[in-house]
Amino acid sequence: MSELTFVLGILSTACVTFLFIKWLLQNRGKRYPRGPFGFPIVGHLPFFGNHPPSTFMKWWKSYGDVFSIRLGSWNAVVVNGFKAVKAAAEHPDDAFSGRPNFVSMELLIESDNEERFAFGNFSPVYLKQRKLASKALRLFTSKRSEVIEELVTNEATSFSDSLIRKYSTTPGFIELDVQTLVTRIIYQILYGRGKQVDVDKHVKVIIKSLDEINEFSGSGSPIDVLPWLRYVMPWKITAFRQTIAKADGIMTEQVHEHYDSFSTGNIRDVADAIITSDADDEDNKDRYVLTRSRLNFTLGDLQGAGVDTTNKTLSWLILYMTKFPHVQERVFAEIDAIVGKNRDVALNDKPDLVYTNAVILEVMRIVTQLPLSVPHFAMKDAMLNGLDIDKDTVVIFNLYSVHHEKEFWEDPECFRPERFINDDNKLDSDKCNHVLPFSLGRRRCVGEFLAKMNIFLAFSIVMQRCKFVKPSGESLDLTPIPGLVYTCKDFKVLVQKRN
Ligand code: HEM
Repeated sequence: MSELTFVLGILSTACVTFLFIKWLLQNRGKRYPRGPFGFPIVGHLPFFGNHPPSTFMKWWKSYGDVFSIRLGSWNAVVVNGFKAVKAAAEHPDDAFSGRPNFVSMELLIESDNEERFAFGNFSPVYLKQRKLASKALRLFTSKRSEVIEELVTNEATSFSDSLIRKYSTTPGFIELDVQTLVTRIIYQILYGRGKQVDVDKHVKVIIKSLDEINEFSGSGSPIDVLPWLRYVMPWKITAFRQTIAKADGIMTEQVHEHYDSFSTGNIRDVADAIITSDADDEDNKDRYVLTRSRLNFTLGDLQGAGVDTTNKTLSWLILYMTKFPHVQERVFAEIDAIVGKNRDVALNDKPDLVYTNAVILEVMRIVTQLPLSVPHFAMKDAMLNGLDIDKDTVVIFNLYSVHHEKEFWEDPECFRPERFINDDNKLDSDKCNHVLPFSLGRRRCVGEFLAKMNIFLAFSIVMQRCKFVKPSGESLDLTPIPGLVYTCKDFKVLVQKRN
């Protein structure tokens, strides 16, 4: 052995020992979440299986409410069960309210070099975007709810008529019809009523881009969490960039049109409401200016987050109604008894349609459309459940585990809407509060109120008019297709007119 090799050997050993001692001192007294065995480089990705939320539930049993995994290149913890998810989401220091800078995020941001909203980090710009969006949505969902009611009623009525026309004798796939219905509703709420959505030009682009974003950014999608894969699969990145550019193009068109035709006192839609709220808001004036590209992003994220989630919820509802005809019959009976056949279901009927509400809650519970929510990120060192979570750790809320916690739900795998109804024929508030499809805390879904309104009204109006029947030979598989938002497999159905 040469002298040089000997010296290098001593130096490396000293370095390793020094780093190890430094690590020990830094972590003295810390209690980190334990976790299962994972591989170097890819971490736990190969063990996720077809349904990561269920795999996480198995690990939950062995490692407790909060356990560690390696999500590709990222350190992550998975938070399970109602108590722990609530504690993480409502952490007093907003410690876990950030978003990780996954590859999809980087690509979304680079398109305009601006901070995004739904996927943006917890910055002053994000806070302002959220404030403007909440204010604008509140204006439309509370003060001007009749505008939305009329819009959804008209759209859901023509949707029902069209389904009956197309599929009363020949069964058909209804996914595109549902996507078109929801895209039209959200599009008009954001950009203006009566605006004719160009089905070929806009709806298809929006739907296609959402499908691609959903696939690319689903929790556990390797391309999103292994940044080096972009050099192995550059075509995936190029395709994603093209998708974003097309979807952004639609928003840009709308944003320019709004700035050009905006007039104070005539708030036509959410885009106008955001422009007005910004003009009225004295807070943060020095730090934030609502530019066209920021408005573009805020609207884009409302559109992206609102369309896919709502349309998938409606598709799941129709699938469950077709699969469980006795539940469908009870919904018909309730609507017929309370609303009758001579008028449309209205938002005012919501408190009285107890069983219909229970069906919506039960489908949202059993499916959990965003089973792992949108990933959160630790912005500082913080404690959770008595464990240390380091800054820059990805924090995954397993909402699916909240909805399938055996101790609380007893038979979580059974589809049983009556579980939500108490002896006084009212919705059980404790059970309702344990359904968290919109998550909790500072990043809780900003469109929750609008989504609940749209889903209740569209579903009830469709149920008033249509009966969904399983065609012979159709199996109606309830297994979801994973992604950021869990989708039902496309299914064929017969749609009969109700008398
Ligand atoms: C059934 C329908 C919907 C479901 C299940 C749903 C669910 C969710 C969930 C789980 C999150 C992530 C919360 C977190 O980070 O912990 C979220 C965020 C968000 N949702 Fe929804 N959502 C729905 C409809 C809507 C609608 C209609 C809109 C707007 C028009 C909307 C806009 C947003 C936005 C902007 C965010 C990001 C909030 C933030 O990061 O501060 N969502 N949603």
